Amino acid sequence: MPPGASDPEWGAVPAGSEASIAVHWPEEARLPPPVGLAATANVRDDGLRTRFRERGFPECFRECADLLTWMHPYAATFDDANPPFYRWFVGGSLNASANCLDRHLDLRGDRPAIWFVPEREAAAPIALTYRTLHARVNALAALLRESAGVRAGDRVTIHLPMTPELPITMLACARLGAVHSVVFGGFSGEACGRRIADSGSRVLITMDGYDRAGRRLDHRPNADTAIAVAAQAGRTVDHLLIWERDPGTYASAAPLRPGRDLLLNDVLPAFEGRAIAPVAMPSEAPLFLMYTSGTTGRPKGAQHGTGGYLAWAAATSRWVLDLRPEEVYWCLADIGWITGHSYIVYGPLSLGATTVLYEGVPAHPDPGRPWRIAERLGVRVFQTSPTAIRQLRQLGPDAPTASGHRFRVIATVGEPIEPATWRWYHDVVGKGEAAVVDTWWQTETGGILTSTLPAIDPMKPGSTGPPLPGIDPVILDDDGKEVPKGSGRAGHLVLRSPWPGLMQTVWGDPDRFVTTYFARFHRETENPTWRDWPYVAGDGAVLAEDGYLRILGRLDDVINVAGHRLGTKEIESACLSLPEVAEAAVVPVPDELRGKRPVVYVSLRRPSADPRATGERVTRAVETAIGRFARPKAVHIVPDMPKTRSGKIMRRVLAAISNGSDPGDVTTLSNPAVVEEIRRIVAAAGSEGS
Ligand code: WT7
Repeated sequence: MPPGASDPEWGAVPAGSEASIAVHWPEEARLPPPVGLAATANVRDDGLRTRFRERGFPECFRECADLLTWMHPYAATFDDANPPFYRWFVGGSLNASANCLDRHLDLRGDRPAIWFVPEREAAAPIALTYRTLHARVNALAALLRESAGVRAGDRVTIHLPMTPELPITMLACARLGAVHSVVFGGFSGEACGRRIADSGSRVLITMDGYDRAGRRLDHRPNADTAIAVAAQAGRTVDHLLIWERDPGTYASAAPLRPGRDLLLNDVLPAFEGRAIAPVAMPSEAPLFLMYTSGTTGRPKGAQHGTGGYLAWAAATSRWVLDLRPEEVYWCLADIGWITGHSYIVYGPLSLGATTVLYEGVPAHPDPGRPWRIAERLGVRVFQTSPTAIRQLRQLGPDAPTASGHRFRVIATVGEPIEPATWRWYHDVVGKGEAAVVDTWWQTETGGILTSTLPAIDPMKPGSTGPPLPGIDPVILDDDGKEVPKGSGRAGHLVLRSPWPGLMQTVWGDPDRFVTTYFARFHRETENPTWRDWPYVAGDGAVLAEDGYLRILGRLDDVINVAGHRLGTKEIESACLSLPEVAEAAVVPVPDELRGKRPVVYVSLRRPSADPRATGERVTRAVETAIGRFARPKAVHIVPDMPKTRSGKIMRRVLAAISNGSDPGDVTTLSNPAVVEEIRRIVAAAGSEGS
């Protein structure tokens, strides 16, 4: 069926949502896991699942906490006195940086913790051993404490590219018990400023510039915008700390402001050799905030706790990615998103693995680059997104064959992967011998929730597999009734019981946490427990007869572009910042490469003399407010929006027009004639569905 075809069976999927334009594919046959893993994988038999079943909720999760080093042991596994706000490993204390660094020094201090691969291929990869990383984190922690007054509980905003300074900064914060809030480097200064204000950070850490697609970008000016935007929102940044991409050569056009700005590479030598004792943090102390998009225009800060989050990141890295100490693993994602937090930094380092950090775009200077890196560094486990796989396949379908790399496990994350792309990943990238794991999770869940286990579960292209141990998903229809497995019907993906990686709250807005994730299927009882508060993921999904899940996409006003979440309301409010724009509506359309992309509809206060220029201004407004990755696929200037009689914009009608599907009955609109007009405008602009 073509994208946009409506399937009457997909009851709970609202028209115009991402899930409603999901590309349909038939259930694929299952493939046996690779024989090569059977004898060596971390999870080789059903023992793990059996133990989880026998111990039951919540004690089963002790097994995750046991992967960590605790400064003080916990007294209770779980506390739900105030659902849905949970506490994990209560009474225990630990430090995340000590778990990622100190505890490895004796056994593997001289092994690489990080392989840094600069984008410029002529620059050799750089190994940072666990000992070096430990020393650099200690020095920065000393500086943060003494020069910027950073203390446990303070929020620190980090707007850095993919260089070792990013994990060093995160771990230095964690060492002090400070809460880091990493903003993806590709976010604009404005977007960064709004996140500084919301988190209440006094300290911003940035870099002068970095290499991307063969160009040195001047990143520093974003900090000036961010600080100005935060100031407008009432938050003063006292310290701007600036790393240099090439130490000793400040390469930005932006001047330094004395008293506020500090070049880290100038001052750090004074702190070299310092040892900062890791601060013992209560298990439930927040470790970091990760801002993510939702239904309203305001991004929400997903707050993750120390013990629960780290235990889940470590356990899932062990079970699903099959990471082991001293093996080289590469996740081709950005640390500025949750994937990088859990599976470039915290998961791999807590297990003592070697994690590769690549600065640039995957196919630079050619699509053979990732495979050359993998061969040179001996990468055995690899992870990336369907968008990157599609791109690499399109540009260099045979490039992996020319390389001598050999993968054991290859993971995909962030969006649905269609079977044809899955097959190329398996056959060509994995050379038919690696296990493919399609991992479904979210910023909010801290770590993977559904995936096959690489050595024991059959793989099914296009499906994210069964739930991990301790995870209890169910598909519910709009009325909260369970949709039976194998029925082929889609519904809301809901998790009946909590797990340690689940976010603790929305920073500064606990009500929003409850309404966004738990209110919909909540049951009123006298003595509420976790059983009364199922977690609503916001995804539409189908559960097959064999218990494997297929994710269709978001049911809310979120568009997943190349595995990056964008709120339609955020994009709309960026458009509305232009004085000439009267109304704006954003809808998802399928995109051959990036899965989905936003298409923008605007109506103007006065007709435009130069519609092309107006369209470009709209695009630029979106890039300024959010970042270049949010760039719309098309901007349509329309005479009016389709509206209900009460004046509500009917986005589902626009989505149907953009996706070439049937908008349904439009006769009840206040202005039905406009639908035909808009259809003509979109047709004249050329097809935008892929
Ligand atoms: C949304 C979460 C998971 C970390 C990166 C994205 C979609 C995620 C898959 C997958 C199909 C997936 C969902 C989810 N998604 N993984 N394997 N198959 N869809 O984190 O930005 O919080 O986005 O990404 O729609 O809700 P995020």
